[in-house]
Amino acid sequence: MSGMILLGPPGAGKGTIAAYIQRERDLPVVSTGHLLRQAIAAGTPLGLAAKTLMDQGQLVSDEVVVGLVRDFLTQPVCRHGYLFDGFPRTVVQAEAILSERIAIRLVCCLTVSEEVIVARMSGRRVHPASGRVYHIDNAPPKREGLDDETGEPLATRADDQPEVVLDRLRVYHQQTKPLIDFYRTRAALEPDLAFVEVDASQPVAQVQSEVLRMVASEM
Ligand code: AP5
Repeated sequence: MSGMILLGPPGAGKGTIAAYIQRERDLPVVSTGHLLRQAIAAGTPLGLAAKTLMDQGQLVSDEVVVGLVRDFLTQPVCRHGYLFDGFPRTVVQAEAILSERIAIRLVCCLTVSEEVIVARMSGRRVHPASGRVYHIDNAPPKREGLDDETGEPLATRADDQPEVVLDRLRVYHQQTKPLIDFYRTRAALEPDLAFVEVDASQPVAQVQSEVLRMVASEM
């Protein structure tokens, strides 16, 4: 069993790359952001509590998120591997992965400047039910405003408002960026763990092929 983590700031392209690796390698994607948005759409108590935090660009509690991941991994589809998108996001979550013996072979960190991030967020459109991601200029849907597969309307994420994006970036720097050193240090000590950085400001196709090459060589 081998797992992979896509790490990086909001808007780096984690969801876009995760969907591509899922298609190419048949790896199930565990996106904690998508799982939380599904809980919000279903109106569960967990979703309602998470919504307030997410709308402010804050992180949901480690306990809740680790519980969601633990449940997801019990599915048979995860038996041979999985790709984490947006998890872990704190050192506490990374330590939970270790203590629960969730195997990780590759940590791929997508790097990109804040200017690029802000531009990507303002043009992002999503299909709420599936989590499919578009961009009005870089990755437009075939028909404006509509999902390619279902024809349903696309939406703008509530947390893509410019002021919330700035809060999410602040949270990233305080709570998630320390994971870069966490995994770089561990990878230097553990022969079965690789840490790589990929320049995510490149065109999507190039980022996709670089990440796929890393997956092929490390997993
Ligand atoms: P989450 O949904 O995980 O959001 P995020 O990490 O902030 O990342 P995004 O989904 O915004 O961006 P992305 O990197 O996936 O980029 P994308 O591919 O969409 O989390 C949302 C919230 O949930 C959090 O703020 C938190 O509250 C909560 N949460 C989630 N996980 C949690 C956890 N583990 N612990 C606690 N709380 C948690 O791309 C962005 C745009 O750019 C798209 O329009 C895309 O088409 C375009 N694009 C992508 N790549 C390129 C490229 N190379 N060139 C040009 N355009 C590109």
